[in-house]
Amino acid sequence: MNKFEFHNPVKLIFGKDQLQKLPRELASYGKKVLVVYGGGSIKHNGLYDEVMTILKDNAMEVYELSGVEPNPRVSTARKGAAICKEHGIEVILAVGGGSVIDCTKLIAVAAKYEGDPWDFVTKKASPKDGLPFGTILTLAATGSEMNRGSVITNEETQEKYGWGSPFSSPKFSILDPTYTLSVPKDHTVYGIVDMMSHVFEQYFNNANNTPVQDELCEGVLRAVIEAGPKLVENLDDYDLRETILFAGTWGLNGFLQMGYNGDWASHDIEHAVSAVYDIPHAGGLAILFPHWMRHNVKVNPARFAQLAVNVFGVKPDGKTEEEIAFEGIDNLRKFWTSIGAPETLRDYNIDDSKLDIMAEKATVNGSLGNFAKLDKEDVLAILKASL
Ligand code: NZQ
Ligand code: ZN
Repeated sequence: MNKFEFHNPVKLIFGKDQLQKLPRELASYGKKVLVVYGGGSIKHNGLYDEVMTILKDNAMEVYELSGVEPNPRVSTARKGAAICKEHGIEVILAVGGGSVIDCTKLIAVAAKYEGDPWDFVTKKASPKDGLPFGTILTLAATGSEMNRGSVITNEETQEKYGWGSPFSSPKFSILDPTYTLSVPKDHTVYGIVDMMSHVFEQYFNNANNTPVQDELCEGVLRAVIEAGPKLVENLDDYDLRETILFAGTWGLNGFLQMGYNGDWASHDIEHAVSAVYDIPHAGGLAILFPHWMRHNVKVNPARFAQLAVNVFGVKPDGKTEEEIAFEGIDNLRKFWTSIGAPETLRDYNIDDSKLDIMAEKATVNGSLGNFAKLDKEDVLAILKASL
């Protein structure tokens, strides 16, 4: 493996009724809190009322920013930063899925910056300070609750990029599976696809001698493949929600990426697709990732064969590594289709008219990926195969 340093400062508070710890966690940061949330799911499932009651019982001065979009927009982060500056907000609380948390991350650093928050997303500037923030996660998918990453869309320019900084890690994240019970079937499926994709991105790396990391990645994938389909059929099952919630955090909290960088080209391509078409992130991944895999089997067939045998139940006897690899990819596609994930860009009414624009956007900063280097032609080939 490659040499590395690892530091994850997020305090994870996991399990039933852990919301009661909220006052304790907020106490050291101040009384003026901005609560950030999305389009209303937390009002429907009762979490909003619970949070507000706790905050008011603890004499917090509460401000709100609602309406954070799935694929959160820089314009919304600008609004949040303006509220922070106007009212002297001391701490921010994100209550929602990855979009709400990602938007909060940008608000936190933009509140301490005089320029435009988009500067941080495009890396024109790097944050020098930020407000503290915590999260209450309501959707198992991104891992944003325990990492510093944030993905933001500029709706005017149709760009979507990830960024992160030491000031974009949550101070704490409260994860109670109860609050994920109301996630509808489609977003439950997207979450499963997203967390599996995060593990794939890390599994496809160029490091040698990573047996512990391989076992961890394969184990997380097997657990998700076991629990995921049952959950999709039993959305009210607390234990299955718990398993998937924990797996989502593990998918992208840095533990599976010690000793290498991972690939991440599929995410970059997907971000270009959802920048142009505003589709759910993991809907895009479900379509693209198997095609990224097929495109890159030749880079290291043994790696794909290992995944096929250890995770996708392929029997290796009498087959070449490439045959095993392709059978594994077919099994992944079948698995995602079986739980209801989309298969082709046409499932979102995306035709071939903007493939070139998306390939251009994906490669605007040069080639993509680490396991395999992709140029614009490679991206175009993957997009065409995904139609
Ligand atoms: O907006 P509300 O009303 O809350 O509804 C949301 C939204 O419509 C709903 N939802 C969330 N929790 C719910 C619920 N509905 C019912 N019950 C609940 N408990 O689900 C919808 C999707 O929410 P969203 O936050 O957009 O989903 P997700 O967590 O998948 O986040 C997607 C965003 O994260 C980015 C994606 O690109 C996308 O913008 N990513 C962030 C990453 C990170 N920060 O590390 C990594 C990922 O790879 C990803 O790129
Ligand atoms: Zn993702």
